[in-house]
Amino acid sequence: MRILNNLSIKRRLTLIIMAIGSTSVLITTLSISIFGVYNLRADIINELKLSASIVGERNYATVLFGESDKATENLNIFSVKDSIVQACLYTEKGILFAHYKHKILGDESVCPEDISPFVRDSDRRISIMMPLYKKDEKFAHMYIESTYEQIEDYVKRQTVIALLVGVGGLVICYLLAVNLQRSISRPILNLADTARQISIHKNYSIRALVSGDIKREFNNELVILTNSFNEMLSEIDARNVQLKKQYAELEKAKDIAESANRAKSQFLANISHELRTPLNAVIGFSSILMNQLFGPLGDQKYMEYAKDINSSGAHLLDIINDILDLSKAEAGKLTLTYDEVHVAKAINKCLNLISERAQKGKVTITSDVPKTLPFLVVDRLRFVQIILNILSNAVKFTPEGGTVHIAVKTKEVEEETTEFTVTVQDSGIGMSKEGLEHAFESFGQVDSGLNRKYEGTGLGLPLTKKLIEMHHGKIIIESELGRGTLVTLSFPAIPPVDVVYNQEE
Ligand SMILES: Nc1ncnc2c1ncn2[C@@H]1O[C@H](COP(=O)(O)OP(=O)(O)OP(=O)(O)O)[C@@H](O)[C@H]1O
Ligand SMILES: [Mg+2]
Repeated sequence: MRILNNLSIKRRLTLIIMAIGSTSVLITTLSISIFGVYNLRADIINELKLSASIVGERNYATVLFGESDKATENLNIFSVKDSIVQACLYTEKGILFAHYKHKILGDESVCPEDISPFVRDSDRRISIMMPLYKKDEKFAHMYIESTYEQIEDYVKRQTVIALLVGVGGLVICYLLAVNLQRSISRPILNLADTARQISIHKNYSIRALVSGDIKREFNNELVILTNSFNEMLSEIDARNVQLKKQYAELEKAKDIAESANRAKSQFLANISHELRTPLNAVIGFSSILMNQLFGPLGDQKYMEYAKDINSSGAHLLDIINDILDLSKAEAGKLTLTYDEVHVAKAINKCLNLISERAQKGKVTITSDVPKTLPFLVVDRLRFVQIILNILSNAVKFTPEGGTVHIAVKTKEVEEETTEFTVTVQDSGIGMSKEGLEHAFESFGQVDSGLNRKYEGTGLGLPLTKKLIEMHHGKIIIESELGRGTLVTLSFPAIPPVDVVYNQEE
């Protein structure tokens, strides 16, 4: 059956039809032959019985008067029939009385001793033993033996006929099969061909043809299959057209959005730049005032105002810098300068910068940063910015008495390449699941109501995420409302290609 699977559908159908046809021809011829042999054997037996009765009748007197020579002469009548090879006549008591044997027997002839009636097949011969009656009185027994010649002739003839019928049948079967298989294979081949054309040319407007002879047979499964296949193609074609249209619209919308985003980034970059110049002047001059570089200010109030101007200016500058960085990163214009950074030193620097705010908020910061770590290849300033953003969030969103813990873990991945993981865990207000989803959006402050008590613009996390991703790293935040937040930052072991090293520390 596996051989069939490798053949084309045409050949398979032809072979199947021929196999069925020739099997039925074979079975019919075989049954006719077997039945014929059976009938022929019955005829031979009847004929032998009839011959025995007729010849026996003629020998009634010879048996009665003991004329065995005459009886033998009478038995010689069997010589006219070549198929009868032996005949034995017994007296009523079973004593051999007369014997006829064909010359082909030679010495092998033996009349059986047992005279009970039988019909026997042995040694390609049929033999019968039967009693002979005259007016219902048993007077003798007759044994006749015949060859299988007639049956063998018949079988030979039948074999020739069977061969002729078989060959003729096979030819007719083949012609019929070739014609019949077309009605099934043609529509299927059409379908297969259409499917192939579509997959080659990616053209869904091609349709499968229903061949002429079955076109009008609406109940024919193959017509139904072809029509359904064509309908499916029409549907795919229509959807493709629709998808192309939608894709074109989306492309257009994307272009518009991208150009709007570019315009926004450009605008932000310009405006930030324009704002930074005067702001630097504000910060610089307020710092001169604060430090009373050109003599005492007099009233203490001036000092306080100068300090306020300075810190507000610095705060505003921070915001503007974040906006500028984020818009640059979004526009793909932010570049990194890779250094070999001493992580413990960099983190200590961040802890120093944040310590004043932590003290103010009565938040305890602890750290677990091993002193002897391999260098981490990152942009030094951006790395400090990332850690500061995360630490300042932790301190900002942790109420009085809470704790913030920063830890660094390393894992040697391959020879001399190390993966760094920085975790910042706080015991602060935490975030809900929905809050977490918004935390990475620009200006996406969780609980951004008017009476929000935490200052900030919601730019820290999106910028941090962008910066980490630029380093091919990852940021994961796990948080639970009221229970605190765990931020995990991972930096990959292999520095990104094309890095510009800056060795100074
Ligand atoms: N450690 C934290 N605990 C609880 N909430 C947090 C924490 N970190 C971030 N969030 C939530 O995510 C929001 C977004 O954080 P993000 O750092 O971007 O903004 P921000 O700190 O409010 O402002 P900015 O960082 O620009 O000063 C925060 O407003 C806060 O609601
Ligand atoms: Mg922040």
